[in-house]
Amino acid sequence: MLKDRIILITGKGGVGRTVICAALSKVLSEKADVLLCDMGAPEGGHSPLARIFGRDNFTAGPQKIAPGLLACHLTPAVGHEAFLRKSIPGGALLGAALKSSALQTFMQTAPSFAEMGWFYHLLMLIKERAPGSNEPRYRHIIVDLPATGHALALTGLPTLLKRMIKRGPVASALLEGESYLNSDYFCHSYVVTLPEELPVSESLELVGGLKATNVPVGGIIMNRLVESTLSAKELAALDEKLAKTPEILGRYELTRLRQSGRSRARLTAECPELPLIIIHDFATDGPLLVNDVADELREVLL
Ligand SMILES: Nc1ncnc2c1ncn2[C@@H]1O[C@H](COP(=O)(O)OP(=O)(O)O)[C@@H](O)[C@H]1O
Ligand SMILES: [Mg+2]
Repeated sequence: MLKDRIILITGKGGVGRTVICAALSKVLSEKADVLLCDMGAPEGGHSPLARIFGRDNFTAGPQKIAPGLLACHLTPAVGHEAFLRKSIPGGALLGAALKSSALQTFMQTAPSFAEMGWFYHLLMLIKERAPGSNEPRYRHIIVDLPATGHALALTGLPTLLKRMIKRGPVASALLEGESYLNSDYFCHSYVVTLPEELPVSESLELVGGLKATNVPVGGIIMNRLVESTLSAKELAALDEKLAKTPEILGRYELTRLRQSGRSRARLTAECPELPLIIIHDFATDGPLLVNDVADELREVLL
């Protein structure tokens, strides 16, 4: 992650992608400029990622939210407009095109069109240069990708569309995007999962899906792991006690503890080639939780 230019955080809904993105952006921005990209549709008018930083939403253009940290909201419309501006010569035609309701309807319903807009918006940010230099404007770009299906629609875009569109400005944008997103040098995706059976199965499928769309996978982040210092003997004694007194507190925790251990062992066995980053379950939430997760990430990364 310290070397990655582009970091795509994926995983199924509710596993902690947003919390991880916020924490990671804090840690990485202590050393270099970071751009944090939100993609979600606002929930009840606000973005959960922006809320962590005390705002309702991020703007389409990058805005400074902390020292070394900028944030923005990726939207298809910004990508579409920028793409059209670059591809259609002359302002009058472009203005008419963007105002056309037939074109708007087409843009909203055409397959992959939304993804294409997101993709192009991201591509513009990747290519941004620092003022007066040829260096990239952002050392790291962290993207809080939508849940699994949408994420794969986005990462699979170049491969899918390249087969249909061979030449012209769309084809060149796809090729350019591919040269970043499918390159082990520039980009890694990370799959976030919970230490439970079904999420682990789904995360293994997602790793396969990402590889199939040619996006390099950098690792798996197992979030909300629970561990204890109890010995095997003590755990057996607890089991015995619980068997005799069904209403005793702690049954749920013990089950989670065992699930955590099993899930971690399974991921290590089935994905031995991928780094596994462990984040523990914290009792905090909101910005305090993000600080706890950032402290743990800092220890792993630095
Ligand atoms: N390590 C953690 N410890 C405790 N709670 C967590 C942790 N990570 C995430 N959560 C909680 O899990 C919920 C889902 O997290 P969120 O980041 O919004 O998931 P996602 O973006 O994947 O949908 C939130 O309520 C968040 O506070
Ligand atoms: Mg989220």
